[in-house]
Amino acid sequence: MDSLIIQGGSCLKGTIKISGAKNSALPIMAASLLSEEPISLGNLPHLADITMMNQLLMNMGARVEFADDHRRLQLHTAEVYNEGIMLAPLAHTMRASFLVLGPLLARFGYARLPLPGGCAIGQRPVDMHLRALSALGVSFELGDAEVVGRVDDSLRGAQVSFEEPTVGGTENILMAAVLAYGETCIDNAAREPEVVDLAQCLQAMGARIEGAGTSTITVEGVERLGACDYDLMPDRIETGTYLVAAATTGGSVRLENARADTIQVVMRHLEQAGAELSTGEGWVALDMGGRTPRAVDIETAPYPGFPTDMQAQFTAMNAIADGSSRIVERVFENRFIHTKDLCRMGADITVSGNEARLRGGATLRGATVEANDLRASASLVIAGLVAEGETTIEHIYHIDRGYEWIEEKLRRLGAEIKRCPNQSQG
Ligand code: UD1
Repeated sequence: MDSLIIQGGSCLKGTIKISGAKNSALPIMAASLLSEEPISLGNLPHLADITMMNQLLMNMGARVEFADDHRRLQLHTAEVYNEGIMLAPLAHTMRASFLVLGPLLARFGYARLPLPGGCAIGQRPVDMHLRALSALGVSFELGDAEVVGRVDDSLRGAQVSFEEPTVGGTENILMAAVLAYGETCIDNAAREPEVVDLAQCLQAMGARIEGAGTSTITVEGVERLGACDYDLMPDRIETGTYLVAAATTGGSVRLENARADTIQVVMRHLEQAGAELSTGEGWVALDMGGRTPRAVDIETAPYPGFPTDMQAQFTAMNAIADGSSRIVERVFENRFIHTKDLCRMGADITVSGNEARLRGGATLRGATVEANDLRASASLVIAGLVAEGETTIEHIYHIDRGYEWIEEKLRRLGAEIKRCPNQSQG
């Protein structure tokens, strides 16, 4: 696998364009299974996860066409085969593959899927997905590595209440409910902007959905969904990552194709760290004016709380910031995988359970580190940007899953960074 080599010490400055949201693209691509007519998606990011979801849909017989320099994707699933076992190798590496469950049950009344894999961030079970779909009339048989779901008659709308908000669970039930008979009411639904993006795309296909973005979503099932042409929202986690990278290096950046309304809590924390933020229609800018950030406390929570997907990046910033900080991870267990490498680079972090305590002001030193999880890898890139000397981040497969052209975008902002292809791949 490729490596990234970073010479630390550059102050990030300039303008770049944010890509479309990975976490919107994946469920929306799965939603293409709900219609026999073509779905056209714009603002598509070039990412390994998107390639994998495409591959998964193509393995099932979907027709996939790109246009507009690969920025637009047309998915046509009129002739898919519902043979779950064909999905196995891909499904084990990407948790989002499980998002085809709701659509397959809605369209075919049957689904056989491998249990999902993904980042190494805790157990990430799918029990809430299965309980919610059971309420709509699905019976499940659970094996060691796969799940088989069957609908006896047809999916029936029902009252569904999640114990905790789950993004994927809300998306799966939403995609099943749009073709169920009658009304489904989802309580304690995830409120993430990506859930809203999916709901808007489903509405464009003809679904009847109310309340997406709130804790209660109501769906009135329809008989069929049609074609649509939909542009994905900008990636809010990519936006936040570049803002934190700029703040950590004392820099100033302007991010185009970004939506400030989706990163309010991240912007507030960056203001606490001493950054000046400004926003407008389709852009966000940050100016740190050469200053060292102040450390900020963080406690992750479902949206609109502080995103767990931004925790690792703030941990890297807090390592070099002035002052001490406390980071509490409330969404996933085992999401401090990045702290070990940050400590090897000189950070002072003590982890206990779901809490990390940092003593800021560290001088980070370049090291050879390994990318183990998507956002953990982003934190190592940020650390490498401010470290003394050279940092090599090995196995950057995880970064390529979620950050489009990261080295090009960072180079445009003045970073010294290059990709080193793995020679052994030939
Ligand atoms: C999605 C995002 C991921 C983000 C996460 C939380 C995608 C493709 N991924 O992941 O980047 O970090 O939201 O914002 O959109 N849980 C259960 N049982 C379930 C489902 C979830 O216990 O059936 C738990 C999880 O282990 C976790 C919490 O609920 O502790 C939230 O997970 P969830 O919101 O479902 O995350 P994902 O949809 O997997």
